[in-house]
Amino acid sequence: MATTHESAARGTAQVLVASNRGPVSYEVREDGSLHAKRGGGGLVSGLSAIGPDAGALWVCSALTDGDREAVARGVGEEGVRMLPVPADVHADAYNGIANSVLWFVHHLLYQTPLEPVFDAEFRRQWAAYETYNRAFAQALAQEAAQGAAVLVQDYHLCLVPGMLRELRPDLRISHFSHTPWAPVDYFGLLPDDIREQLLTGMLGADRLGFLTRRWADAFSACCTEFAGGTGKTRVGVHGLGADGEFLRERSHRPDVEERMAALRAEIGEGRKAIVRVDRTELSKNIVRGLLAYRQLLDDHPEWRERVVHVAFAYPSRQDLAVYRDYMAEVQRVTQEINSAYGTPDWTPVLLNLKDDFARSLAAYRLADVALVNPIRDGMNLVAKEVPVVSDEGCALVLSREAGAYWELRDDAIVVNPYDVLETARALHEGLTMKPQERAERTGRLSAAATALPPARWFLDQLNALREPQPS
Ligand code: F6P
Repeated sequence: MATTHESAARGTAQVLVASNRGPVSYEVREDGSLHAKRGGGGLVSGLSAIGPDAGALWVCSALTDGDREAVARGVGEEGVRMLPVPADVHADAYNGIANSVLWFVHHLLYQTPLEPVFDAEFRRQWAAYETYNRAFAQALAQEAAQGAAVLVQDYHLCLVPGMLRELRPDLRISHFSHTPWAPVDYFGLLPDDIREQLLTGMLGADRLGFLTRRWADAFSACCTEFAGGTGKTRVGVHGLGADGEFLRERSHRPDVEERMAALRAEIGEGRKAIVRVDRTELSKNIVRGLLAYRQLLDDHPEWRERVVHVAFAYPSRQDLAVYRDYMAEVQRVTQEINSAYGTPDWTPVLLNLKDDFARSLAAYRLADVALVNPIRDGMNLVAKEVPVVSDEGCALVLSREAGAYWELRDDAIVVNPYDVLETARALHEGLTMKPQERAERTGRLSAAATALPPARWFLDQLNALREPQPS
């Protein structure tokens, strides 16, 4: 039992969430004022499930100049603590290590004849990753009440559980991976000491969460191979689902209706729509999706002028050259298809690069086929959102490498994401699926997709963390 003095020194938060990106970000306006933008997503709605009086605190990093300015001016939101990590440290930790090494390892993205190269520059960035993780551990240690629950998120913060455990052995600590986990041989690409640091850092937690059994097993296998097992740390699976209630309401607001009318006009009367919606990450496989669509137009010329591929490819991580190049390739292949196959009345691919949530929802509602073909994905919420929102039923072409595959495979048309010919056949199958079958499958997909909404997903983890540890 802590003394009053100890608890005062220790902070008051009972539930703490830690993540790189927080629920709010700031922009400095021309007149010098700060404008706050609130984000959405599973964690935001999950955390709201515990209510405003639960003593929750979200610790996140300042990401933009506006964020750093907000911290400097003492501007902030109730329940959020933004850490003013220096911009260069953040860039090395986030762009250099998290997105260019850990993301690549877990998504199997390296072109191994030339990369990765673990050189002195890598070591310098790794030191920044350690500094960045330590800043989180120290802030959490300061803010947490005696015995509080701390839920650390993702590959940006793998070292936090171990660092925090040393500072505050009284806390209940969990870590959740929103990405896949690499197979043993691929994780083995990392230098020995880095591998060990990552695993022991995470094993500092009482509990580790993954989106599917596949990723949890891959993690355990890495621990067996490189860390002598998972020790006392429990490993659990929590497959984040879609927020059905929110999506149904949001997708029927006037801004979505307006965008549906505009999109219908762009697609053209009587044509079918193959829709995809992604943040343009290297793992999303947008280029092979376009190649499969081109193959469909070759294999089935009867679809020419009768179908449109509506591809939403929102910019992501544009500080990295490899992401910018990938985005350029998506645009290049789109143009190639449009100039080779397009006619005065028909644009085969409608590419949307501007992030517009209402327009994405409009596309979800009218899609005949949804294409979700990542080469590897922790879950993929688009695969779960489309069936919930679809007006008349939508065939789902789904990669077997997406986490969502394990929950949706019975009613999806499953593809190997590298096989463009198979994906083209799947698109044809989706386009020709009978309306009744499409609607029935969509109903079942929607039920499976909403089985674990964000609020339950979050509460399940919190409750599991609070369960007494087996001795
Ligand atoms: O795509 C999922 C994901 O990688 C999550 O694991 C993570 O929370 C998020 O994206 C990070 O994205 P960003 O780099 O834009 O903050």
